[in-house]
Amino acid sequence: MNGRDIIRVYEDSPVHLYVHIPYCIKKCEFCYYQSFDLHDKQIPEEYFNALLKEIKLYSDRFHRIRSVYWGGGTPTMMDERQIERLCQTIFSTFKPTDDLEFCVEVRPGAETSVDKIHRLKDFSVRRISMGCQSMNDVILRANGRNHRRNAFLKTFNMLRDEEIHTINVDMMSGLLGDTEETFMESIEEVSALHPENITLYKMQLYYNSHLYRKIRRENTPLMTDDEEIVCARRAYEFLLNSGYELADNFSFRTGPEHEHIFRTATWRGEDMVGIGLSAHSCVNRVIYQNEPDLEAYYKSINEGVLPIKRAYVYSPYEAMVRHFIFGIKRTCYDVRDFYRNFGVDLERIFGKEIDELAIGEFIEREDNFIRTTLKGTLFADDIVRAVFPNTQSTIKMGFLERS
Ligand SMILES: C[S@@+](CC[C@H](N)C(=O)[O-])C[C@H]1O[C@@H](n2cnc3c(N)ncnc32)[C@H](O)[C@@H]1O
Ligand code: SF4
Repeated sequence: MNGRDIIRVYEDSPVHLYVHIPYCIKKCEFCYYQSFDLHDKQIPEEYFNALLKEIKLYSDRFHRIRSVYWGGGTPTMMDERQIERLCQTIFSTFKPTDDLEFCVEVRPGAETSVDKIHRLKDFSVRRISMGCQSMNDVILRANGRNHRRNAFLKTFNMLRDEEIHTINVDMMSGLLGDTEETFMESIEEVSALHPENITLYKMQLYYNSHLYRKIRRENTPLMTDDEEIVCARRAYEFLLNSGYELADNFSFRTGPEHEHIFRTATWRGEDMVGIGLSAHSCVNRVIYQNEPDLEAYYKSINEGVLPIKRAYVYSPYEAMVRHFIFGIKRTCYDVRDFYRNFGVDLERIFGKEIDELAIGEFIEREDNFIRTTLKGTLFADDIVRAVFPNTQSTIKMGFLERS
């Protein structure tokens, strides 16, 4: 299946739109996202124009949008004019629902200027998501991160002054040089600023990252998985005792009004269309990915064809597996949702797996809900592998398994 075949899989319900901006001021040494260094240059017009054309290619396939998410990379590497034109193109091509969520990722730094935030506010940006990773400059430097603590505080305060409805801050555990003590200092300091969302990533050391090569070369030890989980558990307990609730297995919020619609809705299986280099889409049980190669991406767009590299139609059973996995990751799974979607009881399909997870104290059954325990939440990405079809459970990941 390719771009020419994917024509009639779209339905009339509103979709979630992702736009990928694969550019950063300078690549962080740990980062696994596809992005290119820009330094002080502009985002190439060729890329920007290709995005606009790709959006137009979808204009007769779906019409309404429920959320828009600009990710990267660093979307605020676009200049003000590009931000404005991209917003205009999206909102004139698709009709936003009344409760549209518009979310943009930013990096703490000069490119996230107050003027750009104003342009985004002109189009009702609701949520800004910013990487912090650590509040400790020694750790940020050791991991080749491209900002320092003061830049984070400056950008955070600017976003507060601009009264952004939801600010999310990304933090990372298991960074090179971090100890339980330095990690907790960062978590405590960030939570004292009261961002409405905090997302906690475990640093995955990818074989193709600069950081992996540096650690090999310098033979510097990294926290083990067991040590990392002790840190993560302390952070979860601390945040849950400091006014935060779980939003899903790796993020926290101050209340349901700060739900991240793009994530929860796409996890529930609502359609998502990704625009831009290597972006993923998932529409009506078809998962597809855009070209990850810039030249191939431009070529398709210039021919007026969706730039799709590969696609996969998943089976009804795989759709059930996906629903179950994301139910566990959302930490509070209404099993009636499963019946509504598939017309069969969850326990009939996954009874054995549910029993095993309950015996391991990873989940608890409660009337119509399956609640993921704190232990299950901490290990959610590992325990859901129990339901992966055999072909997928053996796939080797591209990152290091720590000892
Ligand atoms: C696209 S970036 C966020 C926006 C902006 N580019 C920034 O870094 O501030 C998404 C997040 O992914 C996380 N991340 C990046 N590389 C990672 C890795 N190797 N393992 C785990 N999380 C990672 C970081 O927390 C980062 O903030
Ligand atoms: S973490 Fe963010 S800023 Fe750093 S390279 Fe990745 S996408 Fe760019």
